[in-house]
Amino acid sequence: MRIFVDTGDINEVKQAAEWGILDGVTTNPTLIAKAGKGFRETVLAICEAVPGGDISAEVVATDYPTMLKEAMEISSWHPQITVKVPLIKDGIKLVSTLSDKGIRTNVTLVFTVGQALLAAKAGATYISNFVGRVDDLNIDGMAAVEETVQMVDTYGFDSEVLVASVRHPLHVTQAIAAGAHVATMPLKIIEMLFHHPLTDSGLERFLADWNKAGLSIFDKATV
Ligand code: E4P
Repeated sequence: MRIFVDTGDINEVKQAAEWGILDGVTTNPTLIAKAGKGFRETVLAICEAVPGGDISAEVVATDYPTMLKEAMEISSWHPQITVKVPLIKDGIKLVSTLSDKGIRTNVTLVFTVGQALLAAKAGATYISNFVGRVDDLNIDGMAAVEETVQMVDTYGFDSEVLVASVRHPLHVTQAIAAGAHVATMPLKIIEMLFHHPLTDSGLERFLADWNKAGLSIFDKATV
């Protein structure tokens, strides 16, 4: 499963990219507004920080003609950009148009397998299935991810299922179990994936034993 970081903060992108485990970045209007810089400037800096990565940047209009203009503008900025489009009627029409033009799309704010079917039929590159926002309503958000992965497999759609609105490491575990193609998550969730108390205590013991024995990897001459 590919890992995207969900942020508009260039420092967070750089941090995740340094570990060599980052496949892409998702942004949304809220995250870009929070980043406090221009949209184009922020997205281009992100593209540069993740060479070859897939970078989602979202349109903000809600009518087809304006959305199309915005999508063409955004996709002209950099070849790594995927145009993010909300799941509304004009959005699905836009995804069909962009798909015919060979422009990659990420359909966002998808909550049900029925919505996912519309996105897949329109030719979406990614279907962003939001999990945390559904869990917040005391409904199992991961159920729609499982249904969508099955739907894509059963009918042989090219779309990939992207698990979004990830709130904790268990969502990542469940996304893997569901067979999702991508999960996008805040940097703090990627950091949480590193941690296990037995890793920490195990390493502490290894190093204590090594140091007690007075061992060294390098010959004294090479130090
Ligand atoms: C995905 O592309 C969205 O930007 C994001 O995952 C939304 O997450 P939230 O529900 O935590 O805002």
